[in-house]
Amino acid sequence: MKTINIGILGLGVVGTGVARLLKEKKQLLTERTGAVLNLKTIADIDTTRDRGIDLGATVLTTDAQGIINDPDIHIIVETIGGETLARDFILKALDQKKHVVTANKALLASHGNDLVKKAKGSGVDLAFEASCGGCMPIIKSLRESLVANHIRSLAAILNGTCNYILTKISRDGSAFEDALKDAQALGYAEAEPSLDIDGFDTAHKLAILNSLAHGMEINLKDIHVEGIRHITPVDIEFAREFGYAIKLLAIGKIHDRHVEARVHPTMIPLSNPLAHVDGSMNAVVIDADATGRTMLYGHGAGMMPTASAVLSDIVDIARNIISGTQRRVPILGVQDDHIRPIPILAMSELHTRYYLRFEAQDHPGVLAKISGILGENNISIESVHQKGLKSNGKVPVVMITHTAKEAWVQKALGEILKTDSVVGDPMVIRIEETARE
Ligand code: HSE
Repeated sequence: MKTINIGILGLGVVGTGVARLLKEKKQLLTERTGAVLNLKTIADIDTTRDRGIDLGATVLTTDAQGIINDPDIHIIVETIGGETLARDFILKALDQKKHVVTANKALLASHGNDLVKKAKGSGVDLAFEASCGGCMPIIKSLRESLVANHIRSLAAILNGTCNYILTKISRDGSAFEDALKDAQALGYAEAEPSLDIDGFDTAHKLAILNSLAHGMEINLKDIHVEGIRHITPVDIEFAREFGYAIKLLAIGKIHDRHVEARVHPTMIPLSNPLAHVDGSMNAVVIDADATGRTMLYGHGAGMMPTASAVLSDIVDIARNIISGTQRRVPILGVQDDHIRPIPILAMSELHTRYYLRFEAQDHPGVLAKISGILGENNISIESVHQKGLKSNGKVPVVMITHTAKEAWVQKALGEILKTDSVVGDPMVIRIEETARE
């Protein structure tokens, strides 16, 4: 039986999980692959810390370059993270005609197109199932299982930290800062949480998924990104009253000449299954022309769920090697010469419904003033809600609009802010209706 040699770069949480699965599931993986998956060498700057696994004959070294240069190693697993060292090592590994498996969404989102080209030039595979949604098989679903579909849209919860925080605010009425502290205490949020809570991690994943879903190059820079720092219990409470939940969604939709690619807190009807994805869980709903809606749900992070996804890539590549094929599935799901340059719709051109909450002065004419400005800007109001929760002479006024253009809404809000009718910045949350069944 053929032996496939594997090298891991980076023995952190995910790298350790991959090593564990390769060691502990050796027999199962051999039965399923038809080859022996041999973890030959691991490189990490720390070779002494006890990771709680028996590495057996596997060599643990600080010499990453040695792994890349080793002619016996077929597959390199990059679990270092970040965009500098990891990028350098992946490029060198691809140069050496090694197949590469990575979970590094930030790197793929920023440099994925170059890495894909490099892999093509070297005739090797670049696989990244673990980069989006942890163990959810979203990459394979888009590239393989749904291959006969035009994907109309995807809507996804792809950041467990944000979803945990929003769930906490929703369940306990906690302020954002308290919910963040709680997430940090539980290890869901980093000490420096910006990558997660400001939406960037979700945007990285959306850049990858949009490419696979719509056959376009990976485009991170044009994705509209907003995080969840400004979400308050008051908004979640209003949303619930109207039959909605607030989730940080990644939305990717194809239109005739452009795609939508946006990450922002979104009000979704409670009838949408994504509204019930709580805690640190991830989920994605894919709306495709032959299938209708398909939903995946699972752990988006964590040692073993992420390692499970990495192993699925390793086995794919190993199966290719033993059957004498390479690059059987195109890296971005479409043959390279069919990857289209599809522009991302400017946010100002978006049409959707809006939840607007103002801190309004409680005196006659204020509502008329606000709704007058909205009307002058072509924005039609579906409903108005004013609650008697007066504080410092101000009352929260909530308006739900009919479908309006983002540019009109932003212009109207600018004009409303210039009046003395409201204080502070209004809260703006876009509403996303459930896609068809
Ligand atoms: N930090 C991510 C999250 C997991 O909170 O979901 C890794 O992508």
